[in-house]
Amino acid sequence: MKYIFLLFIVAASSKLYAENKSPAFIKGKKIASELQMVLGKNLLAAIQSKGTVGAIAFCNERAYPITNATAKKEVVFLKRATDKPRNPKNLADQSEAAVISKYKRQLERNISLNPILKEVDEGFEFYSPILTNAMCLQCHGSPKKEISDGVLAKLQTLYPKDQAMGYSINQLRGVFSVRWKKKSSVD
Ligand code: HEC
Repeated sequence: MKYIFLLFIVAASSKLYAENKSPAFIKGKKIASELQMVLGKNLLAAIQSKGTVGAIAFCNERAYPITNATAKKEVVFLKRATDKPRNPKNLADQSEAAVISKYKRQLERNISLNPILKEVDEGFEFYSPILTNAMCLQCHGSPKKEISDGVLAKLQTLYPKDQAMGYSINQLRGVFSVRWKKKSSVD
């Protein structure tokens, strides 16, 4: 008996879109902004009520449930992705890493960073930049400088492989990554 094996090499096609008014772009932007707003608001409240060391617990325990609740509500895949993760689960995949490199090159050349929509065979990928501001440096800046000894000790206990320190303001901390299948989208 003879078997014939056919090898199909499927070239994954993808298209990149700059900011536009398409339903897919609006959807991605809405979800990323919502997550940014909820995380930012709660982080600030946690710092004000519990101090920076206390607020680490918020990031450690609540960032994932909040992200997942938003993802579930909107029926999308949603995460914060980075090239220098504190939580190893947030390491960027290939597609996210490509966007991060692009944003970093743009930052170096003083080009403002805009969201990106990528249309792939199965659906859409939406990315928007996460930049640092002064508040972030309490936990993502440099030890001794912006990161206090107490904060450093707590971070080291929770994240022995932490790579997310040494940032200054207006640097790229990562991206919001939103993905959904075409059939579940508004398009
Ligand atoms: C109180 C300390 C604290 C502050 C302030 C803080 N972060 Fe974080 N950040 C953390 C912790 C802890 C994690 C890991 C969360 C986890 O385990 O899911 C984290 C994770 C992240 C991640 C996910 C990627 C990774 O490295 O795991 C991003 C993106 C991020 N922070 C951005 C910011 C930005 C932007 C700011 C300022 C607006 C900020 N953070 C302020 C403590 C902080």
